[in-house]
Amino acid sequence: MITGKYPSLRLRRTRKENWSRKLFEENTLSSSDFILPIFLMDGKNKKEEILSMPDVYRYSINRIAQIVDKAIENKIPMVALFPKINNKLKNDKGTEALNHNNLVCKGILEIKKKYKNQIGIMCDVALDPYTSHGHDGLLKSNVILNDETIELLIKQSILQAQMGCDVIAPSDMMDGRIGKIRKALDQNGYQNILLLSYAAKYASSFYGPFRDAIGSKKLLKGDKKTYQMDFKNTNEALREVALDIKEGADMVMVKPGMPYLDIIKSVKEKFKIPVFVYQVSGEYSLLANAIKNKIINENAIYESLMAFKRAGASAIISYYADRLNKIIK
Ligand code: PBG
Repeated sequence: MITGKYPSLRLRRTRKENWSRKLFEENTLSSSDFILPIFLMDGKNKKEEILSMPDVYRYSINRIAQIVDKAIENKIPMVALFPKINNKLKNDKGTEALNHNNLVCKGILEIKKKYKNQIGIMCDVALDPYTSHGHDGLLKSNVILNDETIELLIKQSILQAQMGCDVIAPSDMMDGRIGKIRKALDQNGYQNILLLSYAAKYASSFYGPFRDAIGSKKLLKGDKKTYQMDFKNTNEALREVALDIKEGADMVMVKPGMPYLDIIKSVKEKFKIPVFVYQVSGEYSLLANAIKNKIINENAIYESLMAFKRAGASAIISYYADRLNKIIK
């Protein structure tokens, strides 16, 4: 309720000094809001630049400690693992996803061995890092098969759970997978594994650098519009979220982030459940390059991240999560 009016009422009074601005802050950011994505690669002692993502690297398993140590020191609650596997291991069915000795499995084991429960691990469930066509599901005569894909996603989820993954995050957008994966996890004794559904995941041009990072960009046949959402739609996102909650999702993701703040807010207001947001690779690279070229200054990062909190996000996946001490001052 606004009472009074100008000239007796002046909102600038609250903004007058640093200390007064502090008292009127409505949102805050801290390291506990963040999830750090880590790209994994084969080999030993490797730390490789990703050309389309300034200051983001791929790490071989024996160098993960370098980044996880820092994440724990900076009080980041969770990391998310993404593999760039050798192209020779990719095929049309993405069978490497079910290999007990694949990069993600090795990554989980390495982190859990060293850090136990000091930090959470989240893993994507989807086939795109493993398929020769770059799609998240099985492809047959140009159609992504829904139910057949889910059978593989169930196996992928169980495998990751067996390895010690804490949060299973299906990012594939097949219909009905959340319920089926929850059921399979429960039947296998994994009742306490969290399920984070990428529920409102849009078919977006902002994923480009990520696909480059996991080596699927050049392979991708066509686009992902038959399973990821149309960016013209809002109600459809609410339906997706409603279904995933019913099927047993513990929390839901909105992705990308900054162009979809309206969706974060609507989902939060309507469902009152934890909403995670992914500041995706394209958003990251836009910011990073504009800052590098001195088009905008680095405070833009903090501003972009605070926008997620303002919109109602509980947690933020961001490639900046390894540099928060410079961002949150
Ligand atoms: C794959 C997946 C994607 C991202 C996370 N998991 C890309 C895609 O769907 O093509 C994007 C993340 C980013 O751009 O940072 N299922």
